[in-house]
Amino acid sequence: MDKILVHGGHRLSGSVKISGSKNSALPILAATLLTKEPCTISRVPDLSDIHYMLTILSELGCEVERASGVVQIKAEKIKTEAPYEIVRKMRASVCILGPLLGREHEATVSLPGGCVIGDRPIDLHLRGFEALGAAVRVSGGNVKILAPNLRGAKVSMRSKFGSTVLGTGNVMMAAVLAEGTTVIDGAAEEPEVVDLANFLIAMGAKIEGAGTRKISIEGVKELHGAKHEVIPDRIEAGTFLVAGAISGDEVTVSRVNPAHLSAVTEPLAEAGFDIRLAGNQITIRPGAKRSALKLDTVPYPGFPTDMQAQMCALLAITGGISVITENVFPQRFMHIAELKRMGANIDLQGSTAVIKGVPQLSGAPVMASDLRASAALVLAGLQADGTTEVNRVYHIDRGYESIDEKLNELGAHIERVKA
Ligand code: UD1
Repeated sequence: MDKILVHGGHRLSGSVKISGSKNSALPILAATLLTKEPCTISRVPDLSDIHYMLTILSELGCEVERASGVVQIKAEKIKTEAPYEIVRKMRASVCILGPLLGREHEATVSLPGGCVIGDRPIDLHLRGFEALGAAVRVSGGNVKILAPNLRGAKVSMRSKFGSTVLGTGNVMMAAVLAEGTTVIDGAAEEPEVVDLANFLIAMGAKIEGAGTRKISIEGVKELHGAKHEVIPDRIEAGTFLVAGAISGDEVTVSRVNPAHLSAVTEPLAEAGFDIRLAGNQITIRPGAKRSALKLDTVPYPGFPTDMQAQMCALLAITGGISVITENVFPQRFMHIAELKRMGANIDLQGSTAVIKGVPQLSGAPVMASDLRASAALVLAGLQADGTTEVNRVYHIDRGYESIDEKLNELGAHIERVKA
C-alpha cells in the first residue's frame, strides 16, 4: 500500500488550480443512465471514486470514453444489476439506483461500502423510492427495487442529522421520468444537488427549486443527451485554504466559486487570517493575530462536515481552546487519535472535540481512516516537526487529485512511496 511522507516545516506560497467536484461528478455520471443518447461531462476529476463509477457504468453496458477530464457516455442498452465487487468499494455507487429506476423501473445493487464514518444508512433513499411507488426488498446484502409504475409524490428527505445529499439526488433522478409531479420536502441545499439538477434540466427534465428546501419535479416521458461542466470542488478548495492557514505565507485557490466557500472562509477570517476574494480566486495570508474557534458542522450553507477534520488540524496548532461539534456524522472523529499521536491536545466528548492549541505538532507514523481524515493528517504534517508518515493513502486518492503534487508545487516537501 502506498504511503505519503510529509517533511514538515516548509512554507507554502503560490496558486493552486482546483479540480471539478467529486461529489457533483459522481451523481452526474450516474444520471447519464437516464438517456440512450450520448452525454459529455467535462471537468471530471481524476480520482479513484470516479474510476469506480465509470467502471460500474461500463459494467452496466454503457460506452464510456475518457480523455483529460472529459467523459463521454452513451447508455444505449443497459443492465439493471450492478456487480458487487465494484459497488462495495464506494458508497456513492448507491446513486445509480435512482436513474436505473427512472429509466428501467428496476434496480439491484449491493448495499454500499465506502468511508468508515460511522453507520451510513440509505433508509431515506429507499423511503423516497417507496413514496414514488417502488417495492423495495433487501436480502443477501443486496437491495432490489421494482417500480413498474413510478408516480410523482410528496417525499420527505429529512433525517435527525439534516437532509441527505445523495438521497435528494437519487429521488430527483428517479422522479424526472416518473408520471406526474414529485415534491421533495427537506431537500438538501448543497451546490452539488443544484449542479445535478442543472445537468438533468439540460437533458430535458423539469425541475424547480434546486438549492432550496423544496424541489418540484414534473416527470417527462424521456430525456435526451446533454453536455455539462462540473462545478469546482469546494472541499478540495477548502482543504488547500486550510493548508495555507496551517503553513502558508500566501496561498491562492483558483477556478473556485467563492460563494460556495463562505462557510469555510468566514471562520478562517474569524480565526485571524486575511482572506481576499477576487473573481474565481480566494487568497489566504496570515493575519496579525490568531484566535480559537467554535464550530458546528451542519448541512449547507453551514460549516461542512467534509471540512471538519482539516479544521481540527488547524485548530490543534491555534492558541486557546477551540470546540468543534460534529452534527452530520457524529462518529466522524477517527483523525483525533492520530492527531494526538502527533502531539495534539484534543479531548473528545461525545460528538464534540475540545481542542487546546499547542505551538507545534511532531511528525509520526499515522493511519488514514477515511478520505477527509487522511487530508487532515497530511495538513498536520506540513507544520509538524520532522516527518509524518501517512499510511493507507488510497483513502486520499479517492477524493483529491494529486494532492501531494499540488502541495509540492506550493512549496511542500511530500514524497509518495509506492508499495
Ligand atoms: C454526501 C457526500 C459526503 C458528505 C455528506 C454530508 C457525496 C458522494 N458524499 O454523502 O462527502 O460528507 O454528503 O454533506 O456526495 N442519513 C440517513 N439516512 C439516509 C441517508 C443519510 O440517516 O438514507 C444520514 C447520514 O447517516 C448522515 C446524514 O444523514 O448522518 C447526512 O448524510 P448524507 O447527506 O446522505 O451523506 P451522503 O449523501 O452519503
